[in-house]
Amino acid sequence: MPCDIRPLSNAFGCEVVGVDLKTASEAEMETIISALDEKLVLAIRHQELLPNELAAVARRFGNLAPQHMSDLMLAEETSICELNSANAPVDKNGKPKLIGEGNWHVDHTNLEQPPKYTMLYAKKLPTKGGDTGFANMQKAFASLPESEQQKLIGLKSHNGLLSKPDHTSERDLVKYGATKIHPFIRTHPVTGKKSIYCHPQKLAFIEGMTPKESQELILNLQARTINENTTYRHVWESGDLVIWDNRGVMHKAFYDYDHTEGRIMHRILIEGEIPV
Ligand SMILES: [Fe+2]
Repeated sequence: MPCDIRPLSNAFGCEVVGVDLKTASEAEMETIISALDEKLVLAIRHQELLPNELAAVARRFGNLAPQHMSDLMLAEETSICELNSANAPVDKNGKPKLIGEGNWHVDHTNLEQPPKYTMLYAKKLPTKGGDTGFANMQKAFASLPESEQQKLIGLKSHNGLLSKPDHTSERDLVKYGATKIHPFIRTHPVTGKKSIYCHPQKLAFIEGMTPKESQELILNLQARTINENTTYRHVWESGDLVIWDNRGVMHKAFYDYDHTEGRIMHRILIEGEIPV
């Protein structure tokens, strides 16, 4: 029986039911990947994936990309980063520094070939909260006036690990931290749609602007274009494998849960092309 793909919101995103990714046919994989390229976020329900099984499933979506949160990589499957809220470090005021970026961003823009897809698998969910937000940055770009779109197309951003992130070793800071130049507006290689492409915390500057002007530009664009028409908030269910396309969406973590419960996510990244 073919898998069933249903919209999750008016803005974008779909849920996929009736498929076990461990045994999915080539035809089902083609259907899922083409839905992902079009709909940008897929929640594939009811998956039971041990770490080695998750890695095997991920390889069906492409080559695996490196991750720089060195001390969170699973020893038994080194391509998987385990995001466990119970291990959150505490700041000097005793407040947990929760794992997962709470501001809108795309993943790993410090790589020359940043991940096209991020996969997040729910291992353990909190009693309530801990949702993930998604913003359709293709719709966001399309909502801008044509004259403004033309000014943004062609801008180049300089991106890197600007300070040492928590959980990143000195070795990985050197290995993955150096500046990479990407288009600020990128074009999706499959659909041809343009999107605003940036991780503000990894943005050093945009060519022709100061760092301050660059931050103001991306934060202003986010504030003007991310709204109820461009967002989807995923409420996790046990067994969800959520996959999103960083070439079209930004995402953020909601910290509205009790971190001591141990919200555990397994993250794996699929290598993308050099952005254009
Ligand atoms: Fe992220």
